[in-house]
Amino acid sequence: MSFIDWKVEYETGIEEIDNDHRKLFGILNDFYKLLLEGKAQSASMELFDEMVNYAQYHFKKEESFLANVNYPLLEEHIEQHRTFEAKLLDIKSNLISGVIEVSPTELLSILTDWLLTHIMGTDMLYVPYLK
Ligand SMILES: [Fe+2]
Repeated sequence: MSFIDWKVEYETGIEEIDNDHRKLFGILNDFYKLLLEGKAQSASMELFDEMVNYAQYHFKKEESFLANVNYPLLEEHIEQHRTFEAKLLDIKSNLISGVIEVSPTELLSILTDWLLTHIMGTDMLYVPYLK
């Protein structure tokens, strides 16, 4: 059982980008599986790190694709990536220091909401420029 199923409407039609997005969905589903098995608390930091690293790798790639075509909304797009990265790092340091407790369920929903909103609202805008 997966938490979030990949749907045709999430596809940008740009293979490399869609593969990355699928991978990010995969990480979220792995996270969900651990949650169902009751192992999320101990494994969440590792998966969270995987999510952060993969997202950073993917954002960099996406940004270089967009810079290559002089995408007019590049700055705003980069801004969204940086804001999300900062949010992730903020959550991470809070998790480490124990200042706030973010439950694995909350974490999963924060990550999923952002990813879906970003893909559907922001990534889709660049599709005509990369085709
Ligand atoms: Fe993006």
